[in-house]
Order: sequence, then structure tokens, then C-alpha cells
Amino acid sequence: SFLARSAVRACAAPSSRLFSSSAARLTKVAVLGAGGGIGQPLSLLLKSDPLVTSLSLYDIRGAPGVAADVSHVDTASEVKGYAADQLDQALEGVKVVVIPAGVPRKPGMTRDDLFNTNASIVRDLAAAVARVAPEAHILVISNPVNSTVPIVAATLEKAGVFDPKRVFGVTTLDVVRAARFVSGLAGVTPSETPITVVGGHSGPTIVPLLSQNQHAKSITGEAYGKVVHRIQFGGDEVVQAKDGAGSATLSMAYAGAKFTNSLLRGLNGEKGVVTPTFVKSPLFADQGIDFFSSNVELGPNGVEKIHELGSLTAEEQKLLEACLPELKKNIEKGKAFVA
Ligand code: NAD
Ligand code: LMR
Repeated sequence: SFLARSAVRACAAPSSRLFSSSAARLTKVAVLGAGGGIGQPLSLLLKSDPLVTSLSLYDIRGAPGVAADVSHVDTASEVKGYAADQLDQALEGVKVVVIPAGVPRKPGMTRDDLFNTNASIVRDLAAAVARVAPEAHILVISNPVNSTVPIVAATLEKAGVFDPKRVFGVTTLDVVRAARFVSGLAGVTPSETPITVVGGHSGPTIVPLLSQNQHAKSITGEAYGKVVHRIQFGGDEVVQAKDGAGSATLSMAYAGAKFTNSLLRGLNGEKGVVTPTFVKSPLFADQGIDFFSSNVELGPNGVEKIHELGSLTAEEQKLLEACLPELKKNIEKGKAFVA
């Protein structure tokens, strides 16, 4: 039938914007915070990724239910849910750990206002990864990313297992938003407006480099200021619209699944997988900023190559200057928490 045929086609060619696959390997992925607003749809999307062969879902509440539900989806991967006291079991044999655990913003809050609650959640989860799966790649979604990534790194460092090639702050939602918002302005599809977004993941630390895309570079004047502001404060748009019920969950799940797929492709040996991500970086280390998001090539060991920013316009240089001091403060706050 037509339906059966199109279903076969859909399975054979997964959505090109989200997943592409190469040769499959045994890859167990854990989601910590799988019962949450991001965790649930992220688990569903990872279940549909052919590069994920086993899915381990953990939360302090609700993960076994999410796992039972997601496990009925007809893809080849195994799914298992773990209750609050089963964190170590959830991490056994895991290659990639995605962390969306923690509280989201309400209107009027900054991401930094989440620090007091989320810092200890992320630290404790990182300590468990260090203990049980010290070679796992850790993808941090929990906010404030500018601080939670340094917290994860410092926690692993304390345990003697930190490898800067394996810790990533997920900034993909900024990249997804930039492509979407710019495509609307430029009158082309988002696949034609991939935008490199550098810096960090909060307001002015988010620096989109529009000049490096042929469709985006012609956006100037008031339109330029507006779209840059929208990329920097897209998160607030969602927080306000949800009116107290939380922040972006569905677009974030999409972005998280997309970044996970990129990492898995790199780990599987695919060449040329490049995307922005917030990692331990030499780019601004001489200014005391040792984590930074820029284009990163992903490979068999995780970070393969950190790209330079390339040439910036005077406007982009100004955005970068506004980013650096705030990013520095956020990073130092994370480090101080673990020290
Ligand atoms: P949510 O409240 O819906 O879900 C969070 C989940 O974390 C809950 O199920 C909760 O039980 C769980 N949790 C809490 N402590 C835990 C622990 N110690 N171990 C395991 N699980 C634990 O929130 P959400 O909307 O899913 O957002 C989660 C986080 O992601 C927030 O910090 C939010 O700010 C952040 N976020 C980041 C981005 C990004 O671009 N990086 C985008 C959106 C949201
Ligand atoms: C986002 O960018 O949507 C997330 O960081 C959530 C938030 O607090 O805005």
C-alpha cells in the first residue's frame, strides 16, 4: 500500500535535518533527567536514531515509565529505565551521557538564577559518571551551561579522569534558532542558512557570526540588530510564552538529538562532522577564558579539532567583546563551586 511504502521510505531515509547515519556500532547512550520536559522527547528522538543501539533512561522520578513507553517504538535499540537509586546501574557500559537534569527558568529569571539548584545536581551526576563510566562523552544541557560545563570538567578533574575531548556544552539550540530565524528573513530554507554561533549560552554571550553565511551577510542595519537580539534571547521568548510552565523543551530535545547524532557520527569515524559546541578551548585561554564555543570537528575521540573564529565584522567584534567578560565570570563561578 501507499502507506506501507512511505513508511519504508521514511525509515530508510531518516529526516535529513535531524539524523544522518553511517555504519552502525554498539553505542549505549544514557539520558540523565529523562523524565523531564526535555528528557522525554529527547529519549523518543534518540530511540529513533539508528546510531543509538541501547538507551539508558535515568531520573529521580518517572524514568521507568518513560522507558516502558519509548521502548515500544519499532526501532532496533534496547531501552531500559532506572529509578532514583539506580544511577550507577544506569551508567554501566555507557559511551555517551546526555544531561538535561535540573530546573528550568520562569519569567523574570536569568539562566544564572538556576545556578544554586543545578550546580550540585550536575556535579553529583558528573561524579557518578567519573566513577562508573569514566571514558564516557558527557553532553551538558542543564543551565547555566556557561557554568555547568566547567563544573563537570572540574568534577572529572578532581576524580582524575577529565579528558577535554569528551566534555561538551550543548549550544545547538542557538544554532538551530539562528538557522531558522535567518532563513525566514533571507527567504531561503534553513538548510541554506547554517550559522556559526560562538561564545557561550546566555544572552550576550551568544555570538552569531552572520557574516560567514552568504544569505545572512546581506542582513544589515535594524534587521541585523533585531535578528541578533532574537538569536541571543530566543530562550526568553519561549519562557515568556510558557508563562511559568518552564522553558524550551521540544526544540531543545530536537537540538540535543541533533548534536548527539553528530557526535555519534564522529565517534563512528565519519569525517568532516563540524558543529559549534562549548568545550575546553585554547581560543581565549590567554584571557583567562578556558571554555568557549566555536566550530568543533568531531571524531573518533570526541573533539578532533577546534576551529578558529575566522574573520569577523566590526559588529561581530563588538558582540564578542560584550561576550567575553560575562562568559569569564560564569566560568569562574562554576570552577569556584567545585573548588
Ligand atoms: P524539567 O523540570 O521539565 O525536567 C528536569 C528533570 O530533571 C526532571 O524530570 C527532574 O526530576 C530531573 N532531575 C532533577 N534532579 C535530578 C537528578 N539529580 N538526577 C536526575 N534527574 C534529575 O526541566 P527541563 O525543561 O527538561 O529543563 C532541564 C534543564 O535544561 C534546565 O536546567 C534548563 O534550563 C535546561 N535547558 C538548556 C537548554 C540548552 O540550550 N542547553 C535548552 C533548554 C533547557
Ligand atoms: C534556551 O535557550 O531555550 C534554554 O537555555 C532555556 C532557557 O532558560 O532559556
